[in-house]
Amino acid sequence: MGRLICISNRIPLGPNPTGGLVVALADVLERTGGIWIGSAAETVENPSDTFTEIEGGKFRRLSFDLSPEDKDNYYAGYANSVLWPLFHDRTDLMEIRGEYYDAYRSVNRRLAKMLHGILRPDDRLWVHDFHLMPLAHELRLLGAKNAIGFFLHTPFPTHLAMQAMPYGAEMCKWLMRYDLVGLQVERDVVHARVGLTLLGGAEEGEGDTLRLGKESTRVVAFPIGIDAADFAKLAAEQFEMLPQGIVKPTRQMMIGVDRLDYSKGLPQRFRAFGTFLERHEDWHRHVSLLQISPPTREGVKAYDDIRDELEHLAGRINGRFADITWAPIRYIHRPIPRETLAGLYRAAHVALVTPLMDGMNLVAKEFIAAQNPDDPGVLILSRFAGAAEQMTEALMVNPHDDEQIAATMLTALTMPRSERSRRYEALMEGLLREDVHWWSERFLAALDEAALASV
Ligand code: UDP
Ligand code: G6P
Repeated sequence: MGRLICISNRIPLGPNPTGGLVVALADVLERTGGIWIGSAAETVENPSDTFTEIEGGKFRRLSFDLSPEDKDNYYAGYANSVLWPLFHDRTDLMEIRGEYYDAYRSVNRRLAKMLHGILRPDDRLWVHDFHLMPLAHELRLLGAKNAIGFFLHTPFPTHLAMQAMPYGAEMCKWLMRYDLVGLQVERDVVHARVGLTLLGGAEEGEGDTLRLGKESTRVVAFPIGIDAADFAKLAAEQFEMLPQGIVKPTRQMMIGVDRLDYSKGLPQRFRAFGTFLERHEDWHRHVSLLQISPPTREGVKAYDDIRDELEHLAGRINGRFADITWAPIRYIHRPIPRETLAGLYRAAHVALVTPLMDGMNLVAKEFIAAQNPDDPGVLILSRFAGAAEQMTEALMVNPHDDEQIAATMLTALTMPRSERSRRYEALMEGLLREDVHWWSERFLAALDEAALASV
């Protein structure tokens, strides 16, 4: 069997991974071995046309260079100002510029060339996320015949949104050059099949296959998981190490952990908490919300705007309700190590996972895995998180409806232990069964099968 080569824009370089992709792939590569290729931490004026080996770590890592212009136009530009908003149903936040698309294509082309230079015929390639959709297309142009799979960590856009995408029909062609296209959940498979046929001109083949001319690919849902057993152990250990005073016997804690991204529904969540406090004076001083939101993609306008909005809201709610012994919202705008988060999830009574749109949302899964089985907390989950397809025993909410979220907060805070346990056990069973290893094993098995079928 050849090597497994994973390629994504982001690879783990520092101590704090704050995105679902890096967290999940690190779990996979630590176990199966392989090579992980991603962009270098710092930009350079003249990008090299070879990879740089990153020393240390539990598996091999190689990085490719980006110039400051690549960073602006390919990463902040096409990936995060066109594709990300479009894939999260926020076409209103898109910023379309010709140089963004050009840089996106040229970075992918350069990366394909570099990859082609190190490829062995039996290597399997696993390409991750929206930054690198054209990679298989570019590699095939260079003659690569390897098995190449793609996994999209975000939602797949609707065909209407795709029409707002510069070169939307191109995207269909890029995806058809993979042997396998993996998506998070069935919602995404439905969108992809409609988009690829309606806009891309693909035709339905047998089973989950789509065909376009000589190309054929399979489009399948592989819901990403976490190493739930491991995370449960970690949470139990880390909980013991939390500083005194985090857990107060007279106070319940609600927790939210999200990159400061407009897709996460944070202003809506804060407003709902404000509504809750307005309605339930008896809960004042007895509940607080710990919101951990590290910065992300700074410099992109929509991200700078959401930061201002959230800080303003937190200030307003605290100003209105706090007293000298209690502040309703503790808002942390820094990354917190995942180990520490594990202990905090366990200390919390309720988790608020209320994105307006999300590929999966690993925080929802981590919160459940971290609970004390004898006295578990309650998950409030947006129906628009991919996780909602699997985690049906969570308290499901519409993240746009602050009255409904406020009412659900009360339900969660007052839920009897027997019901909390019943929900937790069902959720935990699903997490242990469909964990991150299940995800990667299924994807790689399907890739082997699809590649064989296309020979
Ligand atoms: N995370 C972290 N530190 C933080 C915030 C988040 O380690 O301060 C981790 C979190 O535990 C989770 C991941 O980052 O594993 C976020 O993944 P998720 O799927 O919830 O959202 P994404 O950031 O990929 O949109
Ligand atoms: C999401 C995306 C990932 C990305 C992560 C963090 O999980 O699906 O591709 O790595 O967010 O975002 P960043 O732009 O910092 O890599």
